[in-house]
Amino acid sequence: MCGVIGYTGNMEAAPILLEGLKKLEYRGYDSAGIAVLDKNVISISKVSGRIAHLCEKTDDGKLLHGCIGIGHTRWATHGAPTDTNAHPHMSNDGRFAVVHNGIIENYLMLRDELKAKGYHFESQTDTEVIVHLIDMYDTGDFRKAVMKAASRLQGSYALGVICADDPDKLIAVREYSPLLIGVGIGENYFASDVTAIVPYTRNVIYLDDGQLAEITKENIVVYDCTGKKVPKEINHISWDVQDAEKGGYAHFMLKEIMEQPGAVKAAMTPRMKDGEICWEESGLDSFDVHSVSRIVITACGSAYYAGSAGRYVFEQLCRIPVQVELASELRYSNPIIDGQTLLIVLSQSGETADTIAAMRECMKRGAKSLAIVNVVGSTIAKIADHTVYTWAGPEIAVATTKGYTTQLTVLYLLALWMGRKLGTLDEESYHMLYESIRALPKVIQDALDMNPMIKKLAGKYHDAKALFFIGRNTDYATALEGALKMKEISYLHSEAYAAGELKHGTIALIDDHQPVIALCCNSLLQEKTISNIVEVKARGAEVLAVTCKGNQNILSVADDVLYIPKVEPIFSTVAEIIPLQLLAYYVAEENGCDIDKPKNLAKSVTVE
Ligand code: AGP
Repeated sequence: MCGVIGYTGNMEAAPILLEGLKKLEYRGYDSAGIAVLDKNVISISKVSGRIAHLCEKTDDGKLLHGCIGIGHTRWATHGAPTDTNAHPHMSNDGRFAVVHNGIIENYLMLRDELKAKGYHFESQTDTEVIVHLIDMYDTGDFRKAVMKAASRLQGSYALGVICADDPDKLIAVREYSPLLIGVGIGENYFASDVTAIVPYTRNVIYLDDGQLAEITKENIVVYDCTGKKVPKEINHISWDVQDAEKGGYAHFMLKEIMEQPGAVKAAMTPRMKDGEICWEESGLDSFDVHSVSRIVITACGSAYYAGSAGRYVFEQLCRIPVQVELASELRYSNPIIDGQTLLIVLSQSGETADTIAAMRECMKRGAKSLAIVNVVGSTIAKIADHTVYTWAGPEIAVATTKGYTTQLTVLYLLALWMGRKLGTLDEESYHMLYESIRALPKVIQDALDMNPMIKKLAGKYHDAKALFFIGRNTDYATALEGALKMKEISYLHSEAYAAGELKHGTIALIDDHQPVIALCCNSLLQEKTISNIVEVKARGAEVLAVTCKGNQNILSVADDVLYIPKVEPIFSTVAEIIPLQLLAYYVAEENGCDIDKPKNLAKSVTVE
């Protein structure tokens, strides 16, 4: 939920740290700070508010000198977002400074222990115990002091530490929070994610849980938790700096919405070859699909809604029972899982704490896990039995768009591949569905071409008190994601209902001019949804319908209609979400919201 960065080299560290923090700001943006080390003295600058504020305060970093430093952008967990609670935190004698992403669960106990030893606490954060612990264990060996302190911590942490007495060294430690090392020439970095360092290097080392890296400008040595050196592989990042820039768009979210035809194509291309679906890179090709008696899909937020849409596709094509569970619920539900359960885990970031915990719980009970993840080298990707990457490229806006549609694409391909292997799909249907999936980038592009019309409609709906999203089956899954998009970026109260369920209570909320967004793309259920539209119209609702070309009946019941191209009903979600993403975007724009960084949210939710 926070972003950390560190630099050591021959350049002034502060401007590099600030630039990196701007890239990490999507991870948390309620306060920020940097610490720079020069001539055995650590200087710190930290503020509540955005990185822009920190840049102002430090004159874009020019006020702090030194070629080694650490930085942090915060999403508050312990203690309000104030200047004092912002990171870095310093030891009482000013010799150590620490940045931290994660949560220290035993901080109260450690705090009492440290207070009893005379340590003075400035902040309300859990993080401050770390810097005092390091100080307490310091006997002149910086690495050993950090290692000893880390061994006392329970919870999750990506730590960056500097020491005034050892001025050439950064120490980075990882436990259940993302952390990677950027390998440069005559300079090295650490960061929560690669977007912060990709302008300087594309060579990275992913730290594993329990590992510590000792980083100087010329050298990187990684140790395990027992202090033994471990060899690490250097990975090359293939995407460009521009991929993490706005590229002329007003917001990352709009850029990422527009990138979806390309992103979905990137998700399918490596898997679709001459009519076959192959999973070379994830080792799934040899997976025995006949050993699966049940599928459990788990995720959070939008990824959960992608799973909800995926359920219909798996059940339809594979005739296997599928259960979709919120990870935060599954982890504490004493789940019924056995060796014949295939657990499908969805996560854009690969770092969502609840998803990781649910996954570990199910794997412990014997489930085979298959992760669908965007961020390469992330925790979920590492712990899964099989990982399929979505190849959506970096997603910076807090509200996911291309992360979601690429998850759907991979789910469609998996279900189709599995259905064919299981024999629940005949060859003719397989090839017909294969071609439908191949056509999706073009379908998405056509849906995006409605952009100007949707922008106009946003003007009509932006000041509604509430919005209702309704649909059946796959359309219902889209309604859930459409409502989430609307609420998270425009703060407009939005609710999704299964269309047939309205009359069991919720229809009481429908009165004159209440906007209802009706999803009606699943051609098998169009007539049923039209009946529900008629019901809300009869109570005065204003209906915006999203449907497929050719559905003329809708014109006589809806006030406004957005037509997406005709698409195979079970794969319609990936296209019908496009107008809803754009609608949420333009409603938020009309309402002057901070679209890429909505209030109270963070991109990757690494706390429970
Ligand atoms: C989506 O717009 C949200 N920001 C959020 O619901 C997100 O999908 C959820 O936190 C899961 O994240 P993940 O895909 O990185 O696991």
